[in-house]
Amino acid sequence: MAAVLVALCLAGCAGSAPSTLDTAGTGARRVEGLWWFMFWISVVAVLEVLLLLGWALWRRRRDTRVRAGDAMPFVGVLGVGLPFIVLVAVYGVGLRDLNALIRPPAGPELSIEVIGHRWWWEVRYPDTAGAITANEIRIPVNQTIRIRLTTADVQHSFWVPQLMPKTDLIAGRVNETWLHAERIGTFRGVCAEYCGLQHANMSLIVTVQPEEEFTAWLRDLAAPPARDLTEQQRRGQAVFEAAACGACHTVRGTTATGTIGPDLTTIGSRWSLGAGAAPNDKGHLGGWIVNPQSLKPGNQMPPQPVPASDLPDLLSYLETLR
Ligand code: CUA
Repeated sequence: MAAVLVALCLAGCAGSAPSTLDTAGTGARRVEGLWWFMFWISVVAVLEVLLLLGWALWRRRRDTRVRAGDAMPFVGVLGVGLPFIVLVAVYGVGLRDLNALIRPPAGPELSIEVIGHRWWWEVRYPDTAGAITANEIRIPVNQTIRIRLTTADVQHSFWVPQLMPKTDLIAGRVNETWLHAERIGTFRGVCAEYCGLQHANMSLIVTVQPEEEFTAWLRDLAAPPARDLTEQQRRGQAVFEAAACGACHTVRGTTATGTIGPDLTTIGSRWSLGAGAAPNDKGHLGGWIVNPQSLKPGNQMPPQPVPASDLPDLLSYLETLR
């Protein structure tokens, strides 16, 4: 029975999905431990009820005389005493874990600001000027990271199931949480608080790297984009600057300094468009620019009337932004 329950559970939870039972972070591992503790208690409780039910059915055929008071030891021990002990134990372990999750295991070595928007994540490394990106976080392995959470609009909730428990982003407040990844890899994060039409398309990727790789990445992120453009890419940049893009987006080192939409300085290297709504390739990017609502209905970006003849230039320029 227990083996069947475990098999059923693992079949539903394992795989490539961001499972809380395949943890790689200190915070998530604690939540996983609590989950298994409660799971095995539940298994024992179900087995106990089934055994007692079977025993009651078996006994009934032999002896139908019931005396008042016969059942009292069972009610007292199994109906009151045992549940009391179990509930106190679960409560105690839960409190211990909650308390441990409030504080990081070691002092944070790095700070990251995460700002929730409908429906994407703005990510800033405040100790490195210019290090701003969207829908992706990179962190060094085996370091404690402080995450400051705010929202630009409605409530969201930041959750990387394999690395850390959820923390809400609440309007008018700064919430802090921490992240400590124990192994290298790529982990998907989600918004875990319903925040409107595209709540489900508000994903991010957390990449955990060796420290040297992370440091090199952060340095590249903070640097302005490369300047050696081809003729076509230069035409594309002119299209970008002439269109309304810069009213909402920033590309560092250009006239585009808008802050409503994601910073596009590294758009060419991002894992997706629209926080997981579409793959990041030329076709989808072109479709997104001309009609963003077709790929992510309800998002804040209006259609851009870029002439078809200018679109290839614009796309080849955007690809250089890495
Ligand atoms: Cu943001 Cu749900």
